Amino acid sequence: MKPGEGAPGDFARRLIHWQREHGRSGLPWQATRDPYRVWLSEVMLQQTQVSTVLDYFPRFLARFPDVQALAGASSDEVMSLWSGLGYYSRARNLHRCAQIVAEQYGGVFPASAQALTTLPGIGASTAAAIAAFCHGEPVSILDGNVRRVLTRFTAFDGDVSQGAVQKTLHELAQSMLPKAPSAADMAAYTQGLMDLGATLCTRSKPACERCPMRSDCKGLAGGDPTRYPVKTRKLKRRHESWWLAVVISSVADGSSCVWLERRPDRGIWAGLYCSPVLADEAAALAMLSDCSGEPQHLEPFAHSLTHRELRLHPVVVRCDAPDAWATVRAAHCEEKGQWVDLIDLADWGLPAPLRTLLAGLAGSA
Ligand code: ADE
Repeated sequence: MKPGEGAPGDFARRLIHWQREHGRSGLPWQATRDPYRVWLSEVMLQQTQVSTVLDYFPRFLARFPDVQALAGASSDEVMSLWSGLGYYSRARNLHRCAQIVAEQYGGVFPASAQALTTLPGIGASTAAAIAAFCHGEPVSILDGNVRRVLTRFTAFDGDVSQGAVQKTLHELAQSMLPKAPSAADMAAYTQGLMDLGATLCTRSKPACERCPMRSDCKGLAGGDPTRYPVKTRKLKRRHESWWLAVVISSVADGSSCVWLERRPDRGIWAGLYCSPVLADEAAALAMLSDCSGEPQHLEPFAHSLTHRELRLHPVVVRCDAPDAWATVRAAHCEEKGQWVDLIDLADWGLPAPLRTLLAGLAGSA
């Protein structure tokens, strides 16, 4: 079907009404039109659930109350506050974006969606959300949830895994917008699209019986709304095994430290602090042979990333000569490594599974 077809003029009106009656309200980023706060929340919400963001958002804001504060922070501090949210390229882009806004835009985010997309980490959908929420610009968001709502409502059967279809989808989304909306209506419409996709028009078992669009939904009329969006190419995750060399040393005052090295700026866990990663067991044991203790293999566990299915094999070993170890590693490791006290780990940007693992060790150390 073509953009605009089957989109009764009152899709937008009904959605706005439904959002005000039944949509999500009271979220901390809804109480403001400050672009800094809206931008921060939208970046956090890109791949993270609302319940998790509710925890991180106020903590981030307390430490970085405005874009200048964030721009002036060290990247290690930004990464440490982001730690656990995953998708760390978001944190690096967030920091770079804050620096550009502070230095090149006098601390004021550009207003239009078009201008916002020129900034790091702000794609078309995030830009539209910021422009719609803060300035009432009539531009449509088009994240995964919204794509689902619109393709179901219109029974759009183009293959959304094909790049060429994105333009058509974008035109479809624009054609559904309210006509000449007020700023408040545009915010309710945008939030309504997100809320419908997140709460009723869900990937499996959509709650069509409660949907305000049910009488005009072509996907439902066709008998199987979950057929949409049509996607022929599924994401394939590569399987990999990683050995984590977890080296622990006791220092003079009796506390325990772990050896951490900064991950390279590109790739998995980029810029985070992590135990050395080895490709196989033999390499891990060879590296740890300099340590005094007997290597202890912990239970391997799975960790999923967007394009990778990792199987993590932690090997823990005690080291009685921390200075010698640091010297040996300095010769191998491009990025600086260091001993970090287990009780200070909250201040460091660590991959979430390593943080959990080390918390368990700290409890038993
Ligand atoms: N997901 C992306 N943006 C969101 C928002 N503003 N509210 C709830 N969920 C979202």
